[in-house]
Amino acid sequence: MENLDLHKLPKHIAIIMDGNGRWAQEQGQDRLFGHYEGVVSVRKVVEAATEIGIKYLTLYAFSTENWDRPETEVNGLMSLFVDTIAKEVPDLHKNNIKLHFIGNLALLPEEAQKALAAGMEQTAQNTGLELIIALSYSSRWELAEAAKKIALQVQNGLLTIDQITEATLSKNLTTSDFPDPELLIRTSGEFRISNFLLFQIAYAELYFTNTRWPNFRKKDLIDALLDYQSRERRFGKTSQQITSN
Ligand code: FPP
Repeated sequence: MENLDLHKLPKHIAIIMDGNGRWAQEQGQDRLFGHYEGVVSVRKVVEAATEIGIKYLTLYAFSTENWDRPETEVNGLMSLFVDTIAKEVPDLHKNNIKLHFIGNLALLPEEAQKALAAGMEQTAQNTGLELIIALSYSSRWELAEAAKKIALQVQNGLLTIDQITEATLSKNLTTSDFPDPELLIRTSGEFRISNFLLFQIAYAELYFTNTRWPNFRKKDLIDALLDYQSRERRFGKTSQQITSN
């Protein structure tokens, strides 16, 4: 941690938490066991992000595509979300963490929707880490929803077609309250984005690790941050332009 440059931290880190199922199967256990262990990693990473001073952390917990998994796994995950939120919210609140959920939440069971709403309400006034959990989320769904919202504004005369810019699109996404992530981490050795924050990660640094999510700890987060800090972020400019600034 002492090697981290605290002036060069990303404001927003997004994580694709992958490898719970494989980790469990490697232990000769049911896939759900991997998701339970994955919650331990969530807790550790939230603690570490708070300690390091990260402002926004977005975790991909359940994709739109995950609804197609076997019913027992989907039901197990839904119960895990409800139980975890109920159990963790008091601690999150104590640590001044503000909780958000993004995704097509209307598809979640009613009990889960209630738990999420209660968690957001209880932590709404907090000013520390903003923890954003993507549940029943997919980027293409989000972009289609944004297109609908913008079309409606045009239809209602609130906006002309010429006024539509990149910022209009950004403002109509589920992430409109947050800056774009500068660092995207994916665990468990896959080199894919899997329909996650496609618009928002235009300039994010991508970091892939073989570590399975249930094994991911503070040290792994620091490794990702050190790697991030070793990169030159040019945003399409030349290296010379960046260093002369
Ligand atoms: C991906 O691993 C993981 C998931 C689909 C679920 C992630 C959920 C958690 C870690 C629980 C988090 C809980 C809260 C409340 C934030 P996988 O099943 O795709 O693993 P595999 O690729 O090895 O099969």
